[in-house]
Amino acid sequence: MGAISGIRARLCALCVAALLATPSCAPVGETTLYADLGGEAGITRFVADTVAISVADPRIAKDFDNINLDHLTRRIVLQFCELTGGPCRYPGRDMYGSHKGLHLATYNFNIFVEDLQIAMDHAGIPFPTQNRLLKILAPMYHDIVTR
Ligand code: HEM
Repeated sequence: MGAISGIRARLCALCVAALLATPSCAPVGETTLYADLGGEAGITRFVADTVAISVADPRIAKDFDNINLDHLTRRIVLQFCELTGGPCRYPGRDMYGSHKGLHLATYNFNIFVEDLQIAMDHAGIPFPTQNRLLKILAPMYHDIVTR
């Protein structure tokens, strides 16, 4: 093996070691939003809290009538996990398909996001980290709000 290919082999071994040591797809030395949110356990905690707050929020409670809340919570957890760089695969419906029947307005959307922020506050998630998640969710507005 020549000197160059020897160095290449060592560099590749280093890359593989770094990739294995990194829990998800973030560049080496950076953490994912997934990790900053506390991984799947952290996300599950604040998503379950968001759903609990929203179904008890008289402004939007009716939107959750006859909905399987455990299933909804699990789907949102998997969605957030995937979107933030975690190892999950979201198996659910797209945002337009899953919300069009609810005929949601900007009002409903804003209140749900407000409840999400309250839940993230409860979980002690720092404000800049909260904003990183909200930035990912914001473009969904156009698919979720249909009236
Ligand atoms: C950024 C905002 C939102 C996100 C990320 C989000 C995410 C999701 C996800 C992942 C699902 C599961 C889809 C599936 O079953 O495959 C879902 C369903 C649902 N969402 Fe949202 N949602 C948002 C906004 C809202 C708002 C504003 C409301 C009502 C106020 C709402 C109420 C519901 C309900 C009731 C379902 C269940 C629909 C059904 O099973 O027929 N969502 N949402």
